[in-house]
Amino acid sequence: MYPDLEGKVVFITGGANGIGKAIGEAYGQAKANIVLADINEQALQKTQEAFAQTYGPSMIQTLPMNSTVENDVQHAITNAYKHFGGIDILINNAGVMDNMEAADRVPDDTWEHVFNVNVTGTMRVTRKMLELFQQQQQGVIVNMASITGLTGGRGGLAYTASKHAVVGMTKNIAAHYADQHIRANAIAPSQVPTAITQSGKTPDTYGMKAATKGLNLMPRAGTSEEIAHIALFLGSEHASFLNGAVIPADGGWSAY
Ligand SMILES: NC(=O)c1ccc[n+]([C@@H]2O[C@H](COP(=O)([O-])OP(=O)(O)OC[C@H]3O[C@@H](n4cnc5c(N)ncnc54)[C@H](O)[C@@H]3O)[C@@H](O)[C@H]2O)c1
Repeated sequence: MYPDLEGKVVFITGGANGIGKAIGEAYGQAKANIVLADINEQALQKTQEAFAQTYGPSMIQTLPMNSTVENDVQHAITNAYKHFGGIDILINNAGVMDNMEAADRVPDDTWEHVFNVNVTGTMRVTRKMLELFQQQQQGVIVNMASITGLTGGRGGLAYTASKHAVVGMTKNIAAHYADQHIRANAIAPSQVPTAITQSGKTPDTYGMKAATKGLNLMPRAGTSEEIAHIALFLGSEHASFLNGAVIPADGGWSAY
């Protein structure tokens, strides 16, 4: 379906689990080379084994990387670049959630952690990758935002604000690098059952009630595979005229 992706190299942050892993699978099926960079080394190892078996060991590289740590990011991207001789597509997918706290009750440590991973981590990986993309005079960036990055009330304050920042970064990068044949777009999923949706250990009662008011209007939850199809399209030449777009992947929830 996407013959132009054959032999391309995709670098996926947070690729050991959930949506990132499904994106890796989709690119594997398109015969791309896959780099999965993730903080969870145990999950990386399991995913590496599964991918090596399905797509062949030469198609997959896994790299332990905490996207918030500059040295990790430098090391992982340099390593992947040397290994495959280039990187064509970056999927900024690593992300964490808050505990749905509304504005009057956000703990500082939650705010800092969510911003560190979702915003600073995305910036660090993008900054390093843009060095390479500019040398190549080509590259594609796909950022994993969220429907909370396009709407106001559907998450906690920290997560909502962090995903608005991801949307802003996407548009800023799209505008600033279009002349160098570098595109940046984002996907804004609603609910997709993965580990992250279970990660709020004790969801804040007030915030949870407020954020789920419109849940009965959500037609259904999505699947990681449905998000992966969009990431595959955005990385391919079929999306060559899309730049700075943020695509809601929510079955029409936010269209109402
Ligand atoms: N699942 C949903 O409902 C949903 C909805 C909208 C947006 N998203 C976004 O999709 C992305 C993927 O989430 P998911 O649902 O697959 O969750 P997940 O928890 O299954 O996967 C997230 C991955 O990111 C990794 N990660 C976390 N912090 C990291 C760091 N500092 N450095 C490197 N890797 C790190 C985790 O180890 C994990 O493998 C996130 O950005 C999330 O905000 C998810």
